[in-house]
Amino acid sequence: MLSVWQQPLPEIYVRLSEPELRVRIDLAKQELGSRLTILGHHYQQDDIIAFADFVGDSFELSRRAAEQKGVEYVVFCGVHFMAESADILTEPSVRVILPDLGAGCSMADMASLDQTLDAWEQLKTVCGDEPIVPITYMNSSAAIKAFVGEHGGAVCTSSNCRNVLEWALSGGAVGGKKTPKILFFPDQHLGRNTAYSMGTSLDKMIVWDPKQDLGGNTPEQIQAAQYILWKGHCSVHALFRPEHVDQQRARDPQVKVIVHPECKWEVVQKADLAGSTAYIVDQVRKAPAGTKWAIGTEVHLVNRLKHQHPEQEIVVLSDCQCLCTTMYRIDLPHLCWALENLVQGNVVNEIRVDERTRKWSLVALERMLSIKGSGSPISKSSTPSNPIILPADAEKAGIID
Ligand code: 13P
Ligand code: SF4
Repeated sequence: MLSVWQQPLPEIYVRLSEPELRVRIDLAKQELGSRLTILGHHYQQDDIIAFADFVGDSFELSRRAAEQKGVEYVVFCGVHFMAESADILTEPSVRVILPDLGAGCSMADMASLDQTLDAWEQLKTVCGDEPIVPITYMNSSAAIKAFVGEHGGAVCTSSNCRNVLEWALSGGAVGGKKTPKILFFPDQHLGRNTAYSMGTSLDKMIVWDPKQDLGGNTPEQIQAAQYILWKGHCSVHALFRPEHVDQQRARDPQVKVIVHPECKWEVVQKADLAGSTAYIVDQVRKAPAGTKWAIGTEVHLVNRLKHQHPEQEIVVLSDCQCLCTTMYRIDLPHLCWALENLVQGNVVNEIRVDERTRKWSLVALERMLSIKGSGSPISKSSTPSNPIILPADAEKAGIID
């Protein structure tokens, strides 16, 4: 949970027109020159993307952050957990700035360190010496990443979840002969979708509700489980439902449905393709003219793809407002305010992770970055290595019974 609140912007930034803000942002960028890098997540508004030096999903941006040498400031146009990861991965001299401190992530807030420590203690009591490897999605606080690093696990993103789970199943950082159980934070859907695509049946997965004793499970259920999935979800991707897929197919049988793996399992099973944000971007880029898409992810990305690919027909999978309201908080006034302060030598909204948390979360992030096949080299058109396998492919691969 964010402990610092965004101060109201000085009146001037609220009154400036958009063209005025753009001019001032340009000037501040020029003034800061090579001292500054701006990173932008795909879910940002077009107005912000226009100023980003690098655009990507959370995996690409974490790699980009790690590559920044010699810059003084990284302005992260994304959400809090991404800026924390950038701070952990950059040299200590680099100052990471989040233009609006209100840009959090409700999914990341669904797993606190206290709940995690409590769950770990209960699991150890039930499972005894049986190995458990904790894996956390990038969309979690630095404190959870540090817990995972300290307990032999790693971070994953939606681009590399499969590779990270394969690494974890072979023992994680601790190794050993016995296949460990996986405790997966905080997105149950990414965990379930990826584990299922790797051949684990649903009855080998349980959900851990941190508000209940033993996460709401019996000791026997915990002992029998291969995956313990934290009860967390993305409030944006949870809006997509299986009937939206049916409606799109009824409207046009030619439509290809592609969804993010933060969507529910039932939705992913009905889709034609599923994969990370970068995977979705790449599939659309590669598709021939005339391809019809219904895309199940954040609306700003879908609309951008629609404008970038007028030769294809692109719609959002559902007509609900699938908007990440916290990503949306990063806007021209906040970006302008943050940059103009930097020009004046004032570092506002700096995201700093404390030393101990930094040490162990860096371990967990570096494990992710070093896991073989955990992502292709970064370029604006990189193809993530491991999309989710979907029913047609899964049948071929003998995964579905
Ligand atoms: P990726 O950027 O890993 O695809 O995740 C999407 C997301 O929800 C970011 O918050
Ligand atoms: Fe968090 Fe979902 Fe927004 Fe991503 S899209 S930042 S997971 S709330």
